[in-house]
Amino acid sequence: MTGIERPRRLRRTPALRRLVAETGLEPRHLVLPMFVADGLAEPREIGSMPGVYQHSMDSLRRAAAEAVGAGIGGLMLFGVPRPEDKDPLGRRASDPDGILNRGLRALSAEVGEATVVMADTCLDEFTDHGHCGVLDAAGAVDNDATVARYVEMAVAQAEAGADLLGTSGMMDGQVGAIREGLDAAGWIDTGILAYAAKYASAFYGPFREAVASSLQGDRRTYQQDAANRRESIRELELDLAEGADIVMVKPAMSYLDILRDVADRSTVPVAAYQISGEYAMITAAAEHGWIDRRAAILESLVGIRRAGADIVLTYWAAEAARWLS
Ligand code: PBG
Repeated sequence: MTGIERPRRLRRTPALRRLVAETGLEPRHLVLPMFVADGLAEPREIGSMPGVYQHSMDSLRRAAAEAVGAGIGGLMLFGVPRPEDKDPLGRRASDPDGILNRGLRALSAEVGEATVVMADTCLDEFTDHGHCGVLDAAGAVDNDATVARYVEMAVAQAEAGADLLGTSGMMDGQVGAIREGLDAAGWIDTGILAYAAKYASAFYGPFREAVASSLQGDRRTYQQDAANRRESIRELELDLAEGADIVMVKPAMSYLDILRDVADRSTVPVAAYQISGEYAMITAAAEHGWIDRRAAILESLVGIRRAGADIVLTYWAAEAARWLS
């Protein structure tokens, strides 16, 4: 055949493919979510997330140092308190001696300025009912009372050394209130990684095991409905107006269209969270020998980058960073 277009010309050799690849994936793009649990002597593997651990204070430091050695861009820490330390207000979340704040101090001492230390700024691990906020007399999540608790939590996390606060609770006005509270307490350089679009997702299942969640029911009165797209633009605009430094879309895989929408409109860097269920699915299929684990992980990460994420939170951050460097 003559005169036809031949796009295959640029796919012929690895060198040609490398030359024309549009999307890059580098260790610095990856952020590792980590769990630190109170009262653990040894790390405990999470059943639905093989290879991911609830850490003891010691193993947290070791795993963080390894991840930093692999060149990752940041760490996002979640705390798992003892069951007896949970209460309706999630008091331990803002207690400097609560597990998350102790873990943040240990992390920032361990890694210094070699990576970015991020904290989950949400109450769900600390409340005995498992909701991301405090409840009103009728048992509904009370937006404004919750935001006041987030502000206390945020200041404690800034004091504990967090560089960025991950506001994952989906309460209205949370970013603005936290910004104001941080500034008033003198933490003008502590940033906010705002979960702008966070959907109520069945794929959070394994995470709820990871943090020993007490939740009964669901989070549909505060997290977004999977059917909606415009709503994410509204959430993005609100978070930008309230002072978000970085915005996030979560989950990643089932929401790549939302990620593209947000990336096209955001004036700040955009992150996406490849969540626990995404990790569990690829891990399980690979364990069965049904997919090539490494190729599937890298393809999933490139796909998230291609959809518009500058930053990807992934439980494979350290391992993928080693492959990429
Ligand atoms: C809640 C929170 C959740 C995740 C991160 N923060 C779960 C939820 O909303 O129930 C999920 C992360 C994952 O599934 O990997 N603060």
